[in-house]
Amino acid sequence: MLGETASDAGLPLKLRKEVERFAIYFQREFEYPVQEFTAKEKRPYTAYLLSESKRRVWIGACCFRPQSGVSALDRETLRWIWLHPYYRMKGVLTDAWPKLRADHGDFLVEPPFSPAMRHFLLKHNSSSEFYSFYRNVG
Ligand SMILES: CC(C)(COP(=O)(O)OP(=O)(O)OC[C@H]1O[C@@H](n2cnc3c(N)ncnc32)[C@H](O)[C@@H]1OP(=O)(O)O)[C@@H](O)C(=O)NCCC(=O)NCCS
Repeated sequence: MLGETASDAGLPLKLRKEVERFAIYFQREFEYPVQEFTAKEKRPYTAYLLSESKRRVWIGACCFRPQSGVSALDRETLRWIWLHPYYRMKGVLTDAWPKLRADHGDFLVEPPFSPAMRHFLLKHNSSSEFYSFYRNVG
């Protein structure tokens, strides 16, 4: 379930720090060289915190940027998403997806994809103009 929405315009620092915490977990799990989000950064973004159904705890986060980090595409892209392992494969992203599509249109999900994300995109995003890209990128 989608919780708070942030932009550089004004989510409280406390919540931006929550997004940063999940960005750190994302970086650690995938051994990325860069941390994808910091609470005090000034670059434009829209970030979401994800909560469990009773909205008592944050269980993950995701972040959009106005442009691709890996191509010249001038379109909003989903740069990263990370869910606590306990909450994976329980439909959280499936539930959030319509809202993300409504807010950001037919956005590109940035590669590289985890196997889970690629499965998700192939199963639940077949209407996207990027579908063949997702199919061809391993
Ligand atoms: C990828 C991620 C965001 C998916 O969110 P989720 O809430 O677990 O996804 P859902 O439960 O809504 O899954 C829906 C579909 O995604 C696919 N999927 C999700 N996790 C999968 C896995 N581990 N293996 C295979 N397919 C998976 C399936 O197609 C599933 O559909 P189905 O249940 O009808 O078969 C989440 O697993 C996650 O945070 N993983 C770690 C971080 C990550 O991989 N981020 C993306 C980096 S590109």
